[in-house]
Amino acid sequence: AKIAPDMSRIIYVRNLPFKITDDELYDIFGKYGAVRQIRKGNTDKTRGSAFVVYEDVFDARAAVDQLSGFNVAGRYLIVLYYNPQKAAQRQQMLAQKEELERIRQSYQKKGA
Ligand code: ADE
Repeated sequence: AKIAPDMSRIIYVRNLPFKITDDELYDIFGKYGAVRQIRKGNTDKTRGSAFVVYEDVFDARAAVDQLSGFNVAGRYLIVLYYNPQKAAQRQQMLAQKEELERIRQSYQKKGA
């Protein structure tokens, strides 16, 4: 049998209340199994999202199935599997932005 890819242990959550605490996140996502790690978005662009890493692929699946549309403080959660292509796209965009900023600053120093 094929070994399940690691991505299926990781879920990507959006539309979280900005002020949600780590304890609240562990309460919500821990219901479906042991959680190894939660990484909450902490930039303007990523606030309200989180990556939740489960120990077990079946628990990640249960969370995707049962928490999609779950109401938290009047917001409905969007719960997806982690998508490495999307994560790579985001990283690429960030890297491009940083590169542009470096170029911009080097021009500024030259007084252009
Ligand atoms: N960015 C947008 N959607 C994503 C997903 N499903 N996984 C990782 N990063 C994402």
